[in-house]
Formats: sequence, structure tokens, C-alpha cells
Amino acid sequence: MDKKDQLREILSSETIKARVHELGERISKDYHGRPIVLIGILKGAFVFMADLIRHIKNPVQIDFVRLASYGSQTEPSGQISFTKDIELDIKDRDVMVVEDLVDTGYTLKYLKDVIKLHNPASVKICCLIDKKERRQVPIEVDYVGFDIPRGFLVGYGLDFDENYRSLPAVYHINPGYKPEGFAPSDR
Ligand code: IMP
Ligand code: MG
Repeated sequence: MDKKDQLREILSSETIKARVHELGERISKDYHGRPIVLIGILKGAFVFMADLIRHIKNPVQIDFVRLASYGSQTEPSGQISFTKDIELDIKDRDVMVVEDLVDTGYTLKYLKDVIKLHNPASVKICCLIDKKERRQVPIEVDYVGFDIPRGFLVGYGLDFDENYRSLPAVYHINPGYKPEGFAPSDR
């Protein structure tokens, strides 16, 4: 963690809590008591999913996947593979993918296509944060917590270089921020 990283709060923990509650209520209503299999994308979605499931009234089973992508920041090539696959049998099940943040859309497009090969009854997507304007492949997100157009975000499961996941709120991060008049001796 760099002491010079500048964090600016974007979503307070109260705001997140209220919205996650609302999402859980909407999902419960939409699924009319049917059991749901929630599949969280590691690592980022674990905090959001842990809170969300406690607001869903339906019977819920959970699973996680972990994906590795081989694109670069500037060129997300869409080269994605599983480093941890789905373990539950999702054939004929109502599946909901839970993601922390949708950016280019490559991750979810890949995962949704793979999930469909398992012949589930349905697949929907729920994400905490949608950066819609940065989308490079079309992907429909069924439940969105917050639309945030730009900036790199950390906290509530989201990381920068594996740090900041434990923060209860979501922050915009300015990595290695150097204030006006910064001199190397200030380090
Ligand atoms: P994409 O939609 O395939 O581009 O990938 C989205 C993934 O990139 C998310 O699951 C995050 O793990 C990561 N990501 C994208 N933007 C951010 C951010 O602002 N903060 C933290 N992680 C991010
Ligand atoms: Mg992620």
C-alpha cells in the first residue's frame, strides 16, 4: 500500500447497505420464491455477495469462479480462462452471476457464454457497479447497484494491486498522488 495513494469516498457504507438491501428485495420479488444459484466472481465480488445473499428471501446456493485475463490495461484482448471453475450442477437451475464491477464487459461475456453451455434454466447478472460507458462488448446487466462512469475504484471487495478490499465504503483512487509542491525528500 502506498501512503501517497489518494482516496476519495464515492459511496458511503450506508449508501451501499441501503442499495444492496433494495437489490435483494427486487431479486426476491422477481424470482417468486424459486431457488437461485448465485455464482460470485472472485475475488472482488465476495463482500458484495456476502451482504446480498442475506437480503434474498429465496432458497439460495452459492458457488464461486475465478478468472484470469491475459489482456493488458490498454488492450483487453478478451483472452480469459478459468483458474477456478463452477462446482455445482447448474443444469436447469436459475443462475445469477454476482460481480463487483463491470467495465469492458469481456469477463462477463465470457462467463455467461460458458454458463450457457451448462444448460441452466436462466442466467442473469447482478453487479454492484456498472461502468457502462467503458463497455467494449455488449452485455446486459440485469441488476445494477450503481452506475459510475469513470475512475478507478477500491473498497468493499474492490482492489488496487490487492489492497483496499477491506474498506467498508467505495473510494476513487488516485495512485501515488503527489500533492502540489511535492519534492522527492517528502517521501
Ligand atoms: P471487464 O468488465 O472484463 O473489463 O472486467 C471487470 C473486472 O476488472 C472487474 O471484475 C474488476 O475486477 C476489474 N476492475 C475494473 N475496473 C475496476 C476498478 O475501478 N476497480 C477495481 N477493479 C476493477
Ligand atoms: Mg473482478
